[in-house]
Amino acid sequence: MAVSRRRMLAWITGTGLVGSGVLSAVSNFVFIKPRATYGQPQRFSIGKPDDFPAGTRIALEARRICVVREGNKLAALSTTCTHLGCIVGLADTGFACPCHGSRFDSDGTVTGGPAPRALPWYKITLAPNGEIEVDKDTEITPGSYLTL
Ligand code: FES
Repeated sequence: MAVSRRRMLAWITGTGLVGSGVLSAVSNFVFIKPRATYGQPQRFSIGKPDDFPAGTRIALEARRICVVREGNKLAALSTTCTHLGCIVGLADTGFACPCHGSRFDSDGTVTGGPAPRALPWYKITLAPNGEIEVDKDTEITPGSYLTL
C-alpha cells in the first residue's frame, strides 16, 4: 500500500519533534550541575571572644568586616563601602573610605561623602565550640550586639 505524501511529511515532522524533545530532556539532565560558588564563604568563624578585647575595633580586611567589642558586647560591621565597594579604613571617628571620601561614624552611619547608606551589621553568634561565627548573608539592625 502506497503512503501518501501528506502522511509521510506528517510522520517526518512528528518524529523530528519527538526527537528534539528527547534530546532537550537528555541535555538538560546531562548539564544539570550542583550550585557552586567560588567566592569566600559568607558564614565563617573569626576566633574566640578573647581575641577581641573590650574597647577594641579590629578590622579583618580579608573578610571585609570590623569586629567591635564594647564591654561584653560584640558586633561585626561590614567594611565594604556602600558607594562603590572599596574597603573602608578605621578612622578616629569611625570609618573612612579612601576612594571617594565617604565617612561613617563608629556605628556605620554615613556622615559624609557619596555613600548612599550605612555600613551593614552582620549577624554573629557564639558557636558551641566557643568561637564567634559571622553570617554575612544576614544583616541585622545596627546597634544589635551579641551579648557574651
Ligand atoms: S567607594 Fe567609598 S566613597 Fe566611593
